[in-house]
Amino acid sequence: MCGIIGYAGEKNAVEIVYRGLINLEYRGYDSAGAAFGINGRTVVFKRQGRVEKLKPLLEGLASGIGIGHTRWATHGSPSDINAHPHTSGKITLVHNGIIENYSELKAELEKGGAVFKSQTDSEVIAALMSVYYCGDILGALYKTVKRLKGSYAIMAVAEGENVIAAARHKSPVVIGYGNGGYYCASDEPVLSGECGEVSFLKDGDFALIKPDGVRIFDGELRETERKKQKNLAQAGSLELGGFAHYMLKELRQSPAAVKNTVTAFAEAEDKIRGALSGVNRIIFIGCGTAYHAGLIGKIYVEDIARMPAEAETAGEFRYKNPIVNKNTAVVAVSQSGETADTLEGARLAKSLGARVIAVTNAPYSQLTRIADTVVPVCAGAEICVAATKSYTGQIAALYMLALLLAGKNAEGGGLSGLPEICKNVADGADVYALSRLCAFSKGVYFLGRGLDYAVALEASLKLKEVSYIPSEGYPAGELKHGTLALIDNATVSVFIATDKSLTDKYKNSVEQVISRGGIAAIITDIDELETAFKGRAHIIKLPCCRGHLSPLVTATAVQLLAYETAVSLGLNPDKPRNLAKSVTVE
Ligand code: F6R
Repeated sequence: MCGIIGYAGEKNAVEIVYRGLINLEYRGYDSAGAAFGINGRTVVFKRQGRVEKLKPLLEGLASGIGIGHTRWATHGSPSDINAHPHTSGKITLVHNGIIENYSELKAELEKGGAVFKSQTDSEVIAALMSVYYCGDILGALYKTVKRLKGSYAIMAVAEGENVIAAARHKSPVVIGYGNGGYYCASDEPVLSGECGEVSFLKDGDFALIKPDGVRIFDGELRETERKKQKNLAQAGSLELGGFAHYMLKELRQSPAAVKNTVTAFAEAEDKIRGALSGVNRIIFIGCGTAYHAGLIGKIYVEDIARMPAEAETAGEFRYKNPIVNKNTAVVAVSQSGETADTLEGARLAKSLGARVIAVTNAPYSQLTRIADTVVPVCAGAEICVAATKSYTGQIAALYMLALLLAGKNAEGGGLSGLPEICKNVADGADVYALSRLCAFSKGVYFLGRGLDYAVALEASLKLKEVSYIPSEGYPAGELKHGTLALIDNATVSVFIATDKSLTDKYKNSVEQVISRGGIAAIITDIDELETAFKGRAHIIKLPCCRGHLSPLVTATAVQLLAYETAVSLGLNPDKPRNLAKSVTVE
């Protein structure tokens, strides 16, 4: 959702900002741009498209200060003109977020004679700041943000001043302390390898980043400190490491994500137990894949802990009048911990007196600051826009949470050996032929019951996200209530079937698809289904899926299927069109 970076110091800002933008590109890839202080002037470079388009423009340049931006378009289509940075008078800035009152501000500035080149809300910030600027960049930024409604992370420079001024509200800004220079950025993984220590601006904070140090101010411009913390993002996590795509690299890291999450849960167990004491109802909230993990969490809590549980998309939850009280735990699931709807859902739950538990892969994210306690997901940096290892990490964390609620021994919980099984599926599941069928179909339906249905929803999201093939996930029992009308010889129906007790039900559903001339596929560990449909349906045979833990195995298989399908269509699964990794705006 737009990535921004700034640097001031003794190294070459041009190289640092360019490298940073390459690593931030997963946050948006509609356009890229940068501005550098060169001989007392601010020089701007920007292009529609991928960051690498900036490379020839930056060749041979040197500067000690710079800001950069990679864009996921919200206001104004992807174009050179709409690319950041935006300049007005002496001010040049980059922005991540959405300014909700930009039309009113624009009209006011136009009355005063301002002329706008772009269709963006961000150019309005630059114009406003330029009106307030009279030699003091921090003062101008302060006056400007007081007029803004919406969300923003802003980094601004003023011609002739050797400093970056930053401000944030609802969009993240991390300050980095490097060797020979200071950084500001949208997230800490981009600073891995550059900064051993980071600190996080709070909502309403400002910062001045200079070649010789950083000063942080609160919302009233009182100088303050924000705790320096170790940068936990591991150097090297942003590299492909010999894989063709991040999606493949990351789905193969699922076993480690599961293992590390289980270990971290054991360490945090006492705190989590404390936060859950007296809780008698659980509501899972999240968006996209994280919501799908929440659906699995709901089944775990009901089945294992026998406690009432619900799962809802955070975007729906935040706009209703939820029934919660001090005995309700709202479990907010989010890889990034920065998704706007999930944060607002968590804030609402907290304001209504519920306990808020964050299940997140981002230990320093905003969500962790809202939550009463954190259930860590230890998947490591996830660069591919499509979530893979964070989903399996979330499932492992939610399984442990359900065991804890049930008062069962959370240590291990039957998970030992499971990472090995996931690894074997990631390495060995032969999804190639099925991926070809999907790639050339006119629609793919994923069907399942219970946990398999929850994974079917995620399978469908993953496939449509990276391959653009229309797809739906359905409860298998619903097939005959409407979806069957869509089945013909150009559609593929993929059954996810791991619940042995439902073998006969699955048989019926698969027969129904075959008898209507549809292409049927079954992802299963059930021998009887393999025997019954050999030669009539496409079978992906899995190793034993172990009941409640089946989603960890089936998820890996469907992620691999989506990946292979995208690749066979010549698409880049890491950067699906129109999408960005963390959705920090509404
Ligand atoms: C899909 C995907 C998205 C995210 C969703 C929530 O592959 O990645 O659906 O799951 O945008 O993001 P987080 O988990 O960061 O809150």
